[in-house]
Amino acid sequence: MQGLEVRVSARDVRQFAGDALVVGVFSDDEELHGPAAALDEALAGVISDLRASGEISGAADETTLLHTLGKIEPTRVLIIGLGIRARCTPDRIRRASAIACRALRKVGARHVGLALAWVESGVNLALAARAATEGAILGLYEFTRYKSARQTSKSAAASLLSALSSDVVSASELNGHLSNGDHSNQQSELPVRRRLTTVTILGRGREPALRAAVTRGRIVAEAVNFARDLGNEPPNTLTPTELSERARRMAQEVGLECEVFGPEWMRQQGMGALLGVNQGSAEEPRFIMLRYHGGDPHTPALGLIGKGITFDSGGLSIKSGEGMREMKIDMSGGASVIGAMRAIAQLKLAINVTGIIPTTENMPDGKAYRPGDILRASNGKTIEILNTDAEGRLILADALSYAVKQGISPLVDAATLTGAITTALGNVRAGLFSNDEALERIIQQAADATGERVWPMPMDDEYGDLIRSEIADLKQVSGGRAAGSIVAAKVLSHFVGAIPWAHLDIAGMAMRATRTIESEPGATGYGVRLFVELATLLAAQRASAHAQPLAAHVAKAQTL
Ligand code: BES
Ligand code: MN
Ligand code: ZN
Repeated sequence: MQGLEVRVSARDVRQFAGDALVVGVFSDDEELHGPAAALDEALAGVISDLRASGEISGAADETTLLHTLGKIEPTRVLIIGLGIRARCTPDRIRRASAIACRALRKVGARHVGLALAWVESGVNLALAARAATEGAILGLYEFTRYKSARQTSKSAAASLLSALSSDVVSASELNGHLSNGDHSNQQSELPVRRRLTTVTILGRGREPALRAAVTRGRIVAEAVNFARDLGNEPPNTLTPTELSERARRMAQEVGLECEVFGPEWMRQQGMGALLGVNQGSAEEPRFIMLRYHGGDPHTPALGLIGKGITFDSGGLSIKSGEGMREMKIDMSGGASVIGAMRAIAQLKLAINVTGIIPTTENMPDGKAYRPGDILRASNGKTIEILNTDAEGRLILADALSYAVKQGISPLVDAATLTGAITTALGNVRAGLFSNDEALERIIQQAADATGERVWPMPMDDEYGDLIRSEIADLKQVSGGRAAGSIVAAKVLSHFVGAIPWAHLDIAGMAMRATRTIESEPGATGYGVRLFVELATLLAAQRASAHAQPLAAHVAKAQTL
């Protein structure tokens, strides 16, 4: 969903004039507080009655829909469980906001008021408002570009009927739909007039702080959705050329510098690895550079590098049909870099950041690169190819070498690099690999702050032994199945030299296969929030005196 309007209001919940209100309830609270208590009074004690009977337990993600029967202006109140009070984090509030907005959209609400009990939640007020804003915008996202306006099978009368029947959907029915996690075809058949367009964050007497937090949340969440749009776009339209055009257009809109290079430039740069991967594709490769200047011009830029394979067939080492099905999302790392650059520019962060996205398809063809080929990357190193499906590390080899030559530091890349990382960490955490402890620590902090979780992976020298080649400087893969994600990271490490560098293997995080109560299926935009937070933390770190301990600046940055 594009362009959700998020407002801030100082009104008491009882005076809110939209269609529906959301209030949070903690599972371990003896009695209702704040907006929940105020609404309970206005609704003749129905919330406390349901609380006493156990129907409202306050467990995380629990939703209870009440009809207000004319007692207050909004026709519905949704009670969202927030779990144990002491464990309430911004992440929980983000999730609660997403779940509530999705549930209310489903019953036809257009203007929702959010009073997520943040004053008493223990979570910093601004962080909570930001998280609620992000949750609403991320939760309501849909990729509708290729959906015809109305399904032809649905007549106007049928859609009117479905709208009427959903107006009397019961709370238990709603809960049922939400908890089984599968409402396939429900969203896409919503009549156009049932669009949730406006969310108002209700925070009494605290609007200035809330307004700034909402703006930040909106910028970040819209950047995530921008990245999701790129990831969801089919590979027949999102070619490397189209990806670069979208980056260019975005750069113009937000005032970023953008340069896009083609194959001739790559040849001049000696980017034999990127060109090798491109050989089998009918589409030209592109090298996208986005530059943001917000910091001291004498300080090196933070480099964000993203894998931009717009379709990964595996090349001659071709994937199975099953394995190829989702491979349009193999440019998700690149999309996250583009999205993060957009937000960083809009937030005017006090730091220099350069985004680099090498982009090509990986296709089989008479001209395709082969197992056995030796490619030379732009730092001069030769790579013995053994499996053309390990293409990501090759295009990153040239992008990282280029970033090093440009004096960019530190470097952080995001790539859907290996299926093996999903075997190790599932769809819960990205793998974090690094040659620098301080960088690793600050990325961990950014991950904790945003809920885009990572897990540190080892990089012992012995793993590097697995890619020793008899005839080239290194092998592209080990040839075995052991430690696949670490081996891939070891390949990348050959192209960063001594520059502080971190690699995020996001293969398990880039897309969700099924609809959840929190989100639509498809591209997740994972990495955008982490990157923006990282840039924010680094900016704060660089701005402050070196005498102060790092932790103090970080704490300050997080309250922004
Ligand atoms: N793009 C894939 C990795 C991937 C797999 C991303 C599943 C998202 C979901 C990558 O290019 C790849 O094919 N990796 C190979 C490496 C192997 C040939 C060493 C893999 O993981 O099988
Ligand atoms: Mn591959
Ligand atoms: Zn790939």
